[in-house]
Amino acid sequence: MSDLKNFETLQSLCKRRGYIFQSAEIYGGLNACWDYGPLGAQLKKNLAELWWKTMVRRSDIVGLDSAILSHPEVLKSSGHVSAFTDPLVDCLDCKYRFRLEDKKKCPQCGSQNITEPRPFNLMFKTHAGSIEDQGAVVYLRPETAQGIYVQFLNVQTSMRKTLPFGVAQIGKAFRNEITPGPFTFRTREFEQMEMQYFIHSKESSKWYKYWKETRLQFYEGILKNIRYREHAKDELAHYASQAVDIEYHFPIGWKELEGIHDRGQYDVKMHQEGSRKNLAYSTSTGEKIIPHVIETSVGLDRMWLALLCESYREEDVKEGEKRVVLGLPKKLAPIQVAFLPLSKKEPLIALAVKLRDQYMDQYFVDYDETGSIGKRYRRQDEIGTPLCVTIDFESLEDQQVTVRDRDKMTQDRVAVDQLTSYLNNKL
Ligand code: GAP
Repeated sequence: MSDLKNFETLQSLCKRRGYIFQSAEIYGGLNACWDYGPLGAQLKKNLAELWWKTMVRRSDIVGLDSAILSHPEVLKSSGHVSAFTDPLVDCLDCKYRFRLEDKKKCPQCGSQNITEPRPFNLMFKTHAGSIEDQGAVVYLRPETAQGIYVQFLNVQTSMRKTLPFGVAQIGKAFRNEITPGPFTFRTREFEQMEMQYFIHSKESSKWYKYWKETRLQFYEGILKNIRYREHAKDELAHYASQAVDIEYHFPIGWKELEGIHDRGQYDVKMHQEGSRKNLAYSTSTGEKIIPHVIETSVGLDRMWLALLCESYREEDVKEGEKRVVLGLPKKLAPIQVAFLPLSKKEPLIALAVKLRDQYMDQYFVDYDETGSIGKRYRRQDEIGTPLCVTIDFESLEDQQVTVRDRDKMTQDRVAVDQLTSYLNNKL
């Protein structure tokens, strides 16, 4: 298990080191919204790119980027307008409003004196254009999936795809969560990475199993504390006939990271009925079928959070001295190499800056000349930089630099003209 005991420790590191900030902090903060700082934004991009490469660089999956503002008919047909609700209750003693969970008591004061649950729709509604009447209602999409279903036939015909094929998408989704948190675990604005795999119904068991295993393998490359949790029939979402979560062990316990859902023909059928357009797919034998869908769906923000939890460690360096390390995978770290002149003397700075600029195109680099070298190493450890290149006075004489490894804390002396192959090898 990770060394991280609570989200507060991580949240404070993230703020101090430029990973993430409370949104609109200077105005008191906007609850459940977060702004990713320079390092956090880069880590998020690196994760999204890893997912995109894994999912889209295959012959059977293509990408899509659909609109966030959603036509109300789309979400009526999908069932979101009538059924995308959470049970909302009020505590009659302390007046706290919350989403009813298994425990039927107030999480704030412990009272069991609560109202009957009433359905609360989680979608954000707004108006398009200058007239705020019912005809102008649009929704911020609550999942990226619907954009894929309503374009499935356009994608299929324009890209000349045959079943089975998938459509993948990364983008923002919005839910007016009743009880968001903790930290970025559940937010009102978040990013999803979803893939809808269109198949023939008779192959649903095979492809459900395939995606369940394939997605677990993806996580095994970056996380250790993961497991499956099959959904019981009574907890399935309105569209799913079977579903499994890939869970991660967060400091608050085992929680959903990604869902793999067998959505059957539900979505395409509902959009065919709602739009009154023929959405049938023609097979090579001329058979007209409504495709069956297996979905994989993960929150990018939640994956980011899991990766930080997993990477966090505290180590005793020597008597009374600790270091905090983010042991991020080298390929994903937002800074991969830091260039550190041992002192602020001009020739050392010149060489360090020259090397930083030389590697800037190839790696995510940093440069730091302030504070003792020990302090600078600790800072780089804390943000997860795998390698530090230190330039000292000898470097000017022998054209060698010291490369320090984040995890082993070992130091190698490397000739400047060998640095490229050394870094390529290590990263
Ligand atoms: N299209 C299916 C779908 O949206 P979901 O289980 O509601 O399924 C999928 O969401 C994933 O999106 C979750 O496993 C989680 O990683 C992420 N997610 C959902 N709601 C979230 C929220 N409020 N904040 C952050 N991530 C969220």
